[in-house]
This record gives sequence, structure tokens and C-alpha cells, in this order.
Amino acid sequence: MLDVDKIRKDFPMIENNPDLVYLDSAATSLKPQCVIDAVVDFYARHTSNVHRGDYRVAEINDKLYDGTRNLVAELIHCDKDEVVYTHNVSHSLNQIAFGLKPMLKKGDTVLITYAEHASNVLPWFALQKEIGINIEYIETDNEANITIDTFKKAMHEGVKVVSVAEVTNVLGSIQPVKEMCEIAHSYGAYMIVDGAQSVPHMKVDVKDLDVDFLGFSAHKMCGPSGVGILYGKKKLLDAMEPVFYGGDMNARFNKDGEMLLKDTPVKFEAGTPNIEGVIGTGAAIQYLLSIGLDNIHEYEKELRAYAIDKLSQLDNIEIINPDNLYGPIDFNAKGVFAQDAAGFLASKNIAVRSGNHCAKILHNIIHTDQSIRASLYFYNTKEEIDRFVEACKEITLENCVGIFF
Ligand SMILES: Cc1ncc(COP(=O)(O)O)c(C=O)c1O
Repeated sequence: MLDVDKIRKDFPMIENNPDLVYLDSAATSLKPQCVIDAVVDFYARHTSNVHRGDYRVAEINDKLYDGTRNLVAELIHCDKDEVVYTHNVSHSLNQIAFGLKPMLKKGDTVLITYAEHASNVLPWFALQKEIGINIEYIETDNEANITIDTFKKAMHEGVKVVSVAEVTNVLGSIQPVKEMCEIAHSYGAYMIVDGAQSVPHMKVDVKDLDVDFLGFSAHKMCGPSGVGILYGKKKLLDAMEPVFYGGDMNARFNKDGEMLLKDTPVKFEAGTPNIEGVIGTGAAIQYLLSIGLDNIHEYEKELRAYAIDKLSQLDNIEIINPDNLYGPIDFNAKGVFAQDAAGFLASKNIAVRSGNHCAKILHNIIHTDQSIRASLYFYNTKEEIDRFVEACKEITLENCVGIFF
């Protein structure tokens, strides 16, 4: 069980904005004080680069920076050498796609869905242009759920990569990743999982799932911006070339262009990294683990069900994903442009997102380019949902005229 009142005291954003209802955690989450402290301490008490300095402060940072790998390993159940620091999940997915390029050839198929975020679509489109891979879409229901049957139907000998979000970012569809991995592997295909909306909200065990690669972002799980994680099975990371080259990731090079790269994972981390961000990510993971991912998952499910129940009683609201049990609530107010509706909610100090949410081919499933997304996290409360629903009741064309916030 979560003690939400206690949890809310950990978040200065909540204390400093007592009237704000923040329902945009799928875009980025709020940060607890322990994460802010970890970042500030780096600037105020122990600034240095990492893997370069032979002095005490640098040693502190080496320990903290590399220590975060152990925490990520604990979070997703992998080995610390399988944890690559990137800048965000977009970077992770680009590294995976372009790292796999030498293993792919013209005519090979990559399977995705219409519900993917741009960062799990555009790298594949770029490879389609560059080397002529085929992109095919796995059939889903109208809330973007893949079933084992539709997945089996989509698989064929030409499929070399399957790449899907474990939880989709607009509709909150939870995909059956474990079973999909087994099927993909039986065809010799790689299974890539975009964990941007799953890792912050539920237990993800990469060994149990048997995924080949997983990407996620710290900023969506109480951590700082500018840090992503790329998990890959060690042997696959060892076989993969980095996309970026530069400092730290090389062991030696000479004037003839010969170079020796460091071992995985450092070979993927060119240049000075976001040190304070990685240290803050460690603090965020410790914080989430102390609350418990299962507790977070259960609480959010309950809160979502409460919100759906209330919202579905409003005549002016159309919920796009009423049957999914998890993740963001996607909806529209009848006859009102989504951005105007979001502006109206903003005038009531309620933060939601409107538009297509970086899922620009999702309209193939939901048949609209415009929706409002309310996304919850474990610091939201039923009282906030009540305020949100009360405000939604008032979203009409007339009420949205001339709204400035
Ligand atoms: C499912 C999913 N994938 C990828 C991303 C991209 O995340 P980032 O902006 O941290 O790279 C997001 C962000 O909203 C997302 O929800």
C-alpha cells in the first residue's frame, strides 16, 4: 500500500504548486527531493568529470556514476555491464537501430505497430530509406493491443526485428512482450522493447521477458532529464558498433586510423556524459525501489479505474481507451478542438497534453489526430481526479472561447 500523502511531501513541485493538478507524467515526471539533492550535491560538493581524473573528488564521481549501473541492473534484472547510458530513450532506440544496420539487408522486415512513439518509428524509416528494409505493422485492436494471434499472423521468415513499446504512450496498451519474445526468437528475430512507459510504472525483468534490447528514459521515472538507458544482452552489445565516437569510449588509436574501443558498455558512451543526471538517476531508482514497483503499478491501476468510472459518466466526454486497464487516459470533449480543451483545463490549473503525442501514425487506429492525454503517476490522488473530472464536465465549445492561461 502506498502512503500517498507522505509521498507527495517528497516532491517540491507539489509543495510549491499546491493548486496544480499535474496529469502529464507520461511526458515527464515530477522529481523527488532526493533526486534534486543528488544533482545539486554534484554541483555544490563534488564536481568533476568521470573516468578521467586521478583525484579524490573524481573518484567519488566515478563510484556514484558507475554505481548507477548496479541500480539499473537491480531495477530491470540484468548484469551491470549490460547497462549503457544514453541521453534518452530516443537515443537508445537510434543506437539499437543503427547498431543493427550491419546485420540487416534490403528486403528484411522490421515489425512495429501504428501506436509507436516517433522514436520507435523514425529510425526504422531512416533504415528503410538507407538500406531498403521493409516496415510492416502488427495488427492491433482499437486500443492498440497486440494479441498472440495477431502477432503470430504478422510474423514470417523475413522478419528480422520486432520493435514495440511494452506500454504504449497514448492508449496505455500493455503488450504481451514475454510471449512475443518467444515467438520472435523462434524465427531468429531480435526483440526490441521501448520501455519508456513501462519501466517507470511496473516491474520489468529483462531476463524473465528474454528481450534482446530495452530502452527507457530517467526523466519519466522521477530522474533528471538527459539520461536514458539502453539495455542489451551482453553478446549483442559486444557485437554491435557504436553510433558515436570520441573521448572515454576508446582504449587507444593511432595516426593510421587504427582504433581499439573499450569494452561494453563504455564503448557506447562517447564524450563527457550527463554525470549529474546519471547520479540523480541512481537516486531516482533507489526512491522507486523503496516504494516498490508493484505498489506503484497497483495504485495507478486503481486510480485510473476511478478516473475512467467518473469520466465515463460525462455526456460531453468521449474516452478513446476506456477498456485498457492501465496507462494514460486518452479522450476528447465532443465538438471541441483538443488543444482548446487542454487550454480550458490549464485555466483551471490542470496540466494535460493535447495533440498527437508524438504518435503520428496512431490515427490509423483511433481515427483522429487530436486528443487529450491525462497521464497519472503514483503521486496523484483521487481528490485530484475529482477536480479534473469536475473541470472536464465544463469543457464545452462556449466555455473554451477566449481562454488564455
Ligand atoms: C513510448 C515512448 N517512447 C519513446 C519516448 C521518447 O522519450 P524521450 O523523449 O525521453 O526520448 C516516449 C516519450 O514520451 C514514449 O512515451
